[in-house]
Amino acid sequence: MRRSLIAANWKTHGSLEMVGDFVKGFASGIELRADVVLFPPAVYLSTLAGLTSEFVQVGLQDVGVAADGAHTGEIAASMVKDVGGSWVIVGHSERRLDQGESDELVAHKFASALAAGLSPIVCVGETLAQRESGDAFAVVCRQLMAVVDHCGAAALLNGAIAYEPLWAIGTGVTATPEQAGQMHASIRAQVAGLDESVAPALRIIYGGSVNPANAGSLFAQEDIDGALVGGASLQAASFAAIVAAV
Ligand code: 13P
Repeated sequence: MRRSLIAANWKTHGSLEMVGDFVKGFASGIELRADVVLFPPAVYLSTLAGLTSEFVQVGLQDVGVAADGAHTGEIAASMVKDVGGSWVIVGHSERRLDQGESDELVAHKFASALAAGLSPIVCVGETLAQRESGDAFAVVCRQLMAVVDHCGAAALLNGAIAYEPLWAIGTGVTATPEQAGQMHASIRAQVAGLDESVAPALRIIYGGSVNPANAGSLFAQEDIDGALVGGASLQAASFAAIVAAV
């Protein structure tokens, strides 16, 4: 009932050469059983959009809140759309930590993406210390509820949620399928408590050291609807293998 969503978050990796190589490598003979979205560094978005529009979608790893104006360095949601993007990531933990983004700011970014007709993926996830102290779900819930309070639960259907436990990002330590599946089920139950009609259709994807070897067992979990892939999305072959695991 829910179509899988597999997204590549290239973070601050890549070059024009890599964009060209990736598209050539990924395009060859792949059969897509999922929605596939590539998130390159912002400066490569337009080029990538021009190369990939037929078979995958593209988006930005972040988005500004303002529709336009004097905000040096910010990129407005309408500009993402203008160059062919259809998705954005908001609230990635690296931005929450490195740029001090608050739950409230993330919620406003989610809203600005929706207002421009983009699909936002909101990232939520706990640190290792928060997991060990039993606070994982409370943290994830707080991050999620900031978006729901600002945009409404139904708005989540225009995008997706990415559960990305911080201890699994870039560490090679993946959450077990059971750990991830449990959190996804808890998130879905939380949303069902707010709006029963939203929860069954909501896409909740997992991120954190997803690779071709572990993707299948993660996707086998009922409430895991795809992946947000970092390191393993930088090579066309490994990303294609993850897409093929759907
Ligand atoms: P890795 O797949 O490199 O752990 O990164 C996950 C992530 O942060 C995707 O947004």
